[in-house]
Amino acid sequence: MSAPPTDAELLELADAAAARAYAPYSGFDVGCVVLARDGRVIEGVNVENAAYPLGVCAERTAFARAVAEGYRPGDFTVAAITASPCGGCRQWLHEMGVERVVFRNGGRVVTMTPDELLPESFDSSNLA
Ligand code: THU
Repeated sequence: MSAPPTDAELLELADAAAARAYAPYSGFDVGCVVLARDGRVIEGVNVENAAYPLGVCAERTAFARAVAEGYRPGDFTVAAITASPCGGCRQWLHEMGVERVVFRNGGRVVTMTPDELLPESFDSSNLA
């Protein structure tokens, strides 16, 4: 069995995925890859729409694709994103229970946990 990809390698895969973004309105291509515990890498890109609010972020397409394939929250270790995750995607990252999030922000590469990205978050425990 081969070693899992490093965070740096995952970011490179996210960069490559971003080239397949559909972002004709913003011109801002985003790629996201998530690493599952079974070693699979699932890729997502942002997909925009002429009705602007209907566009979806790269993180959400990656996780929606993974869930459709059978993965569940807790099945993921890392999400690597070519941009700083927006507020809504921070909620998704929290829901999916990734261990860490690696992303580019300006010239930097930042690594944070979902809790650090979204402290005091709303989750299923708030529904009880
Ligand atoms: N975008 C993402 O894909 N992920 C984020 O977390 C930040 C924003 C996309 C949405 C839109 O297609 C474009 O970047 C500009 O906001």
